[in-house]
Amino acid sequence: MPLVDMRDMLNHAYHNNYAVGGFGLINLDFLEAIVTAAEHCRSPVILNLVESHFEHFDFGLIMPAVEHAARNATVPVAIHSDHGTSHASAVRAINLGCNSVMMDASLESFPVNITQTRHVADMAHACGAAVEGELGYVGGGEGENAAKYPGEGVYTAAEEAKAYVERTGVDCLAVSIGTVHGRQRGRTKLDFGRLKRINDMLGIPLVLHGGSGLTEEQYHKLILNGIAKINCYTELSDIAARTIRSNLQPDTGKGYIETMLGVRDSLREQIKLCMHLWGSAGRAAEILVQCRPWQPVEHVIIYNTEGVSTQQVEAMC
Ligand code: 13P
Repeated sequence: MPLVDMRDMLNHAYHNNYAVGGFGLINLDFLEAIVTAAEHCRSPVILNLVESHFEHFDFGLIMPAVEHAARNATVPVAIHSDHGTSHASAVRAINLGCNSVMMDASLESFPVNITQTRHVADMAHACGAAVEGELGYVGGGEGENAAKYPGEGVYTAAEEAKAYVERTGVDCLAVSIGTVHGRQRGRTKLDFGRLKRINDMLGIPLVLHGGSGLTEEQYHKLILNGIAKINCYTELSDIAARTIRSNLQPDTGKGYIETMLGVRDSLREQIKLCMHLWGSAGRAAEILVQCRPWQPVEHVIIYNTEGVSTQQVEAMC
């Protein structure tokens, strides 16, 4: 049961003024830290598998562990493929166990973004998976996660967003209102007026990319204006790297296990902080009673049925 439909999870967050964290994971330390933090906080959580990270780990290899962790969690979990760039990558993600996919055609023209996202939404919805689209463009700041998002951001226009959601059928929309992927440069200026207009016109859960490093007040205002999912990776990456660096001071020739000591704990503490800041802590039970459990997709093909009755065919399924 704890692997749940992300649409139900986000709709609950959206209507109850809190946001669920979509935490980027790159290895088992991240996976364990995210799930144990969620259990400790009794919080729903989204496990983000980010396509641009697949050059650093084997997506197919990690997914059985991700699915196992999600199914065995006692809090609601969704498995989301983040920043997928093609129909083929969405198909692969769903086949490997993601029950939610993002189609990121945000650098394409408006009509091409719509066509490509609609194509993915039709396929994913037929499989029961949730779909996130992006309109506008969230660029990169500095730090490890920034390089993957080159160039300046492009803000989301409310009127275009309405047409985009109607034509693509996405379940939630990533908006660009001033955040950047990677580290924020100083205090980020967010366009709350724009966000409010988008939220008033759309009335669906909105997603914040570049969610690391904002202030408590900014998170609060974002959530009050429709942000129901906050993506976070840079802060986690920086905290893990800081822990490793401090383990190496002074360099006494430590081995791998000693060098990595404390990484999971520091990640878990940061994620717990986010869950409290974003209001998802303590919400698990409410979601569990009203979320649809995720059912894996199975296709059964029966052939050579000549001379076999309908009843016998049905019995084979
Ligand atoms: P940060 O780089 O701010 O952590 O954002 C991550 C993100 O938006 C991934 O989709």
